[in-house]
Amino acid sequence: MQRVTVPLGERSYDALVGPGVRHHLAQVLPRGVRRVAVVTQEGLGVDVDPGLPRRVFTIGQGEEHKDLATVEALCRGFAQWGLTRADAVVAVGGGMVTDVAGFAAAVYHRGVAVVYVSTTLLGMIDAAIGGKTGVNLPEGKNLVGAFWQPSAVLCDTEVLATMAPREYRSGLGELAKYHFLGGGELDALPLEERIARCIEIKAEVVAADEREGGRRAVLNYGHTLAHALETTGAYDLRHGEAVAIGLVYAAELARVLGRIDDARVAEHRRVVAAYDLPSALPADVDRDELVAVMGRDKKALTGLTFVLDGPHGVEVVPGIEREVLHQAFERIRS
Ligand code: GLY
Repeated sequence: MQRVTVPLGERSYDALVGPGVRHHLAQVLPRGVRRVAVVTQEGLGVDVDPGLPRRVFTIGQGEEHKDLATVEALCRGFAQWGLTRADAVVAVGGGMVTDVAGFAAAVYHRGVAVVYVSTTLLGMIDAAIGGKTGVNLPEGKNLVGAFWQPSAVLCDTEVLATMAPREYRSGLGELAKYHFLGGGELDALPLEERIARCIEIKAEVVAADEREGGRRAVLNYGHTLAHALETTGAYDLRHGEAVAIGLVYAAELARVLGRIDDARVAEHRRVVAAYDLPSALPADVDRDELVAVMGRDKKALTGLTFVLDGPHGVEVVPGIEREVLHQAFERIRS
């Protein structure tokens, strides 16, 4: 089993990674907790035992349930059961479940402890770590939320074996990102250590900039184009697949700008291909629409802002001209 600490002073917590770590739930609950509200989804089939009185609250499957109505239903359920600030929420599921349950925990009674039992690769190396919680509005994704750090995160690698292959591969897109955020030879590590290393990289970034005043934005490497591809909703891409295309695009963009050389671009292509992920734009893509959407990205500070590789590593680069974006599109066309 691997243990990684997310160092945030009094709010520091551990992520445990390994086969069967979900069975450590009772040990990682904050001291004094009397009962546990387990938030999960129907049919997930991941059993947890907090060793305390518990009640299970299920939420719907799919992004359309990631909304304030679900948070209200959860909080009302907690209130009817009599959950207090001395108790805890345990979220069992992927990123959607931890985002929603984490937000409910952040706002119920102005904050109760939450522990995540993350059941997807994507969730383990991203959503469950770092304290971002929230839900969507009809106007956009993740527009309502709170920073609320969990008390512990359990990443049970045994559970990954039950994931649908395409969902697992989607997680690999996020994993590919960490190769360029200091992960280096991540491929050489066994899965458990690889996940732990990704968490360690994210933990270090979050510790330096918990509320995304600056550096935390590097975690969005590959995500500007990915979000645009996802927002248009026109392409059959999982999040990690869109991130994989976004990583190669960001590398080509950095190459056009003279920030990195051909070998570094080839390294991006090699990592993405090794995970069997796509690196080309979908054939029928509307490039002008993508540029328009990227211009509205909520991470855009002034004009078009990208997270790009360069001589000092991956960093936020503002003021990218539209013409350059089109040049880079040419280099990833299918
Ligand atoms: N998923 C990006 C972040 O946690 O900041």
